[in-house]
Amino acid sequence: MRKSAPFRGLAAALVVVLVATGGLAATALLVPAQQQQQQGGGVSEPARWDKVFGAKQPRYRTEPNDFLDRSLKRLAGEKWLAGGTAIDLACGDGRNALLLAQRGFATTGIDVSKVGLDKARAAAAQKGLTLDAREADLFTFDYGVEQWDLLSVIYFNPALTIADKLKAAVKPGGVIVIEGQGSEHQGGGPPKETLFKPGQLLKAFADWRILAYEDGRFESDWNLGEPTHVVRLLARKPAK
Ligand SMILES: C[S@@+](CC[C@H](N)C(=O)[O-])C[C@H]1O[C@@H](n2cnc3c(N)ncnc32)[C@H](O)[C@@H]1O
Repeated sequence: MRKSAPFRGLAAALVVVLVATGGLAATALLVPAQQQQQQGGGVSEPARWDKVFGAKQPRYRTEPNDFLDRSLKRLAGEKWLAGGTAIDLACGDGRNALLLAQRGFATTGIDVSKVGLDKARAAAAQKGLTLDAREADLFTFDYGVEQWDLLSVIYFNPALTIADKLKAAVKPGGVIVIEGQGSEHQGGGPPKETLFKPGQLLKAFADWRILAYEDGRFESDWNLGEPTHVVRLLARKPAK
């Protein structure tokens, strides 16, 4: 199995219909992951990720994401934000949701993988942390409006297609933390069309305060080994 295997079929969760109307207009039609079958293989998206999180030898970084860790330290140090409500989208086995809980956030993690969520719950119990780990499709989840002090999306680029919904869900003065593969990343990863293009994250959060933006060649948590193209954003919604 190549490293790319965990990501195969993400394209199946994100059905993109391109409609050419004289120029390059595009319409994205999102279909809930639970209803999707991997093209040709008949393996559902949740089942595929269950296998990834059930593997004896994890092929991803099992420690918390470094950018999220640095961001939390900075937010607390500069007194932007220390604690509150946090939601980690596509939380997997909870490595980042647990960090948020550890740093004092009342944390919810959502994912479609039962195995990943069970691992997250077990790790929370073992560490004596409280984590609300929910089985949910992030494309259809009800985030509410101005509900969260912090929203994180670590290595799930397709979530940017619902950026407006996610921005609305963050409280004024709250933050979003994003890390994912950039457009020059090669090899395993999310669907090519969701690799972050030059300035794409900055454009999506142009009306927020950009506290940090890193675009470079770093080791990706989900493509261990040689550095690849990774993009990171820490942005703060203006306070009212
Ligand atoms: C590359 S992993 C990243 C996991 C975690 N964020 C991390 O960095 O460790 C992608 C995750 O997205 C989850 N996922 C895929 N489609 C999803 C969906 N529609 N809704 C919620 N989670 C989804 C998978 O189960 C998997 O845990």
